[in-house]
Amino acid sequence: MSEQLERTLPTSWYRSADIFRIEKERIFCREWFAVCRDEELPKPGDHRVLDILGESVLLVRNREGSLKAFYNVCRHRGAKLCRSADDTVAAGRVALPGGMTAGRLIVCPYHQWSYDLNGALVAAPHLGPGTGFDKSEFHLYPVGVETWGGFVFLHLTPADASPLAAQLGGIPERLQRYPLAGLRIGATIQYEVRANWKIICENYNECYHCGGVHPELCAVVPSFRDAGGANLDWNRGVPHRDGAYTFTHSGTTARRAFPGLDADEQIRHKGELLYPNVFLSVACDHVAAFILRPRSAERTDITCHFLFETHEIDKPTFDPSDAVRFWDLVNRQDWTVCESVQEGIRARVHAHGYYAPMEDWNLDIRRYVTDRIAAHVPRETV
Ligand code: FES
Ligand SMILES: [Fe+2]
Repeated sequence: MSEQLERTLPTSWYRSADIFRIEKERIFCREWFAVCRDEELPKPGDHRVLDILGESVLLVRNREGSLKAFYNVCRHRGAKLCRSADDTVAAGRVALPGGMTAGRLIVCPYHQWSYDLNGALVAAPHLGPGTGFDKSEFHLYPVGVETWGGFVFLHLTPADASPLAAQLGGIPERLQRYPLAGLRIGATIQYEVRANWKIICENYNECYHCGGVHPELCAVVPSFRDAGGANLDWNRGVPHRDGAYTFTHSGTTARRAFPGLDADEQIRHKGELLYPNVFLSVACDHVAAFILRPRSAERTDITCHFLFETHEIDKPTFDPSDAVRFWDLVNRQDWTVCESVQEGIRARVHAHGYYAPMEDWNLDIRRYVTDRIAAHVPRETV
């Protein structure tokens, strides 16, 4: 009976630190990985120190207005160049000057090698002309940067990177009438979820759970309850109940629909999973964008941005709370079940789970992960 259903990935793949290390190298370091919104670094010299699965990356807006990214390590003896806003100085240590200086130079705190915002070494004390030292050989290690839809994507192995467009596949075309690049952040919620990133992706990719887990959501989108979500047409968009057209408790909002949407898009909801770490849920008046940051095999941090038109955000009466409150409830319901899975699969007898037919999209997550890591996984962990 049970073998009529497709199997999930092996349980160890959701729990093991060894598998997580393989995923880091074979997936997160070899695919474009979303980190933030373009608008979060508006001016030349703006920068962020990002922790991407233990790799410290410096993302900067250069003097010409382009985004650049580098491994956050000095080419001399390897000191960390910039500290993040939440890096604290350890007890008994001291804060050293250096890092981003006057929005123009990245100065190493150790021997003061200085780099410009394109990563070129511009000064190294006492290694001037006549010493035979060629600064051009000591460029910061580059990280790839591209943007799409207002999101910033990084690539930790840029020499081997395909264009971001190849990774995005048909998503830009499917969302072409939504003004994603021009939307602005109206609200943000940060979540720490004690679950493997794939459990969270699998949960996003099926609506079999919606009837039981999301009663408020199903009141707005009754079809989420029907046939475990098997009949949903995500390409056309899922329909709301009569009179409803967006993801709020009332199913309505004072905000206008994005200009340019087609008739379906004005009253239906679409969702996309951008492998490996973004979920986009698009309503007619707002977008809920989830950026996942896997921290360990059993923990994932999630930034949930609520994106709106500038036209709405600039109004003195702008209030995103109708969407934010609704989504926050749905999100916390989702994170609760994801954490329940993470706890449940610790059972010593649980070697794998199953996907029901209405969870077919999850076969694609299984394929995506298997294609990238299976050849690198020791036989005994499969
Ligand atoms: S380690 Fe950076 S200048 Fe020496
Ligand atoms: Fe859900």
